[in-house]
Amino acid sequence: MKTNRLGVNTVCTHVGEVEDKQFKSAISPLFMATSYSYDGMDAKRYPRSFNSPNQVALAQKIAALEHCEASLIFGSGMAAISHALLGLLQKGDHVVFPEAMYGGAYNFVVKEFPKYGIEFSFTKGLSEAHFRSEIQANTKLIYLETPSNPLLKITDLKKVAKLAKAHDCITMADNTFASPINQNPADFGIDIIMHSATKYLGGHSDISAGTISGSQAHIDKIWSTSINLGGHLSDYTVWLLERSMKTLALRVKRQSKTAKKVAKWLAQHELVAQVYYPGLKSHPEYHIAKKQMNGYGGMLSFELNEGLDAIAFMRALGLVKYSMSLAGVESTILSPAETSHFLLSPEEREKQGIKDGLLRFSIGIEEKEDIIADLEQAFAKILD
Ligand SMILES: Cc1ncc(COP(=O)(O)O)c(C=O)c1O
Repeated sequence: MKTNRLGVNTVCTHVGEVEDKQFKSAISPLFMATSYSYDGMDAKRYPRSFNSPNQVALAQKIAALEHCEASLIFGSGMAAISHALLGLLQKGDHVVFPEAMYGGAYNFVVKEFPKYGIEFSFTKGLSEAHFRSEIQANTKLIYLETPSNPLLKITDLKKVAKLAKAHDCITMADNTFASPINQNPADFGIDIIMHSATKYLGGHSDISAGTISGSQAHIDKIWSTSINLGGHLSDYTVWLLERSMKTLALRVKRQSKTAKKVAKWLAQHELVAQVYYPGLKSHPEYHIAKKQMNGYGGMLSFELNEGLDAIAFMRALGLVKYSMSLAGVESTILSPAETSHFLLSPEEREKQGIKDGLLRFSIGIEEKEDIIADLEQAFAKILD
């Protein structure tokens, strides 16, 4: 299907379907086969080759949403990150990573890269100058995460992409927090776009998956390593993910609208010390977010006033679930120090500005009034 004139909800619903020639069903049939005839066929199909019918179809939907030529789908966001980096890099290469990035990805880099002889350094801020000052003669790739997990820091995609091109480096962006609905890094010159599809793309807290999108040439390069590492997603889960993505734009637009309202409400609350949300004018990089995002997303973080027990507050919530992960249709909250950034030492967390009392809030699709009422009753409980 031609995608260039379709609106985002139409792409979510219709692009990348497996055509049911036999029964003409309205949705993609599911092919669970691990064995396909190759006699006279256009491809030698095998799930670990990332070319089963359902994988190929879903990859088209993801590539269309990210304004890219091609995509690959993996068993988790970390599989997507590790396969892409190992596919694009070799011994002796250097990578610039941002000071703010998902704890699991940080842990992968510091623990695994030395085994492969891949060099790396971290920026000491997120401006173009901070990235520039880390570039070395052997720098091959610049990695970004914007908005970042959990402090919603913003990196200027266009400036970093331009800098990378001038130094002949590949750029790779983790677009998980924004989702393809709120941000398309390829439009700003970023080469590789990654998602933990466990988050917004899945959106119902029941799928673990990851995606990589980019030019056909970059995806072919990653693919040639990925078939050796074997991190593809099972076809049943691919099929579920395709189903979930039909409502991606509907969900994310609503979550973003509610998150902005809740962020504003928290920012004026007398018991809240700090709110991190790129859609608030008080956010230090609001002007960059405004330029490169279509909406500011459903994620926010906040800190309570000194002396208040953030963990007790979190436990006092009722409707908002105190639980791992993010981006589901249900609102959830967690402490990054206890979860997503647990693998980092307290010093590493402090360097990233992640305080023990920081709470990361994922806004669901519930009514905003009910979310705010739940926050209000939790504030009342911890003051009791
Ligand atoms: C921003 C970001 N990137 C990557 C990942 C890793 O994804 P997964 O848990 O699906 O491996 C996560 C997980 O929380 C994340 O928040």
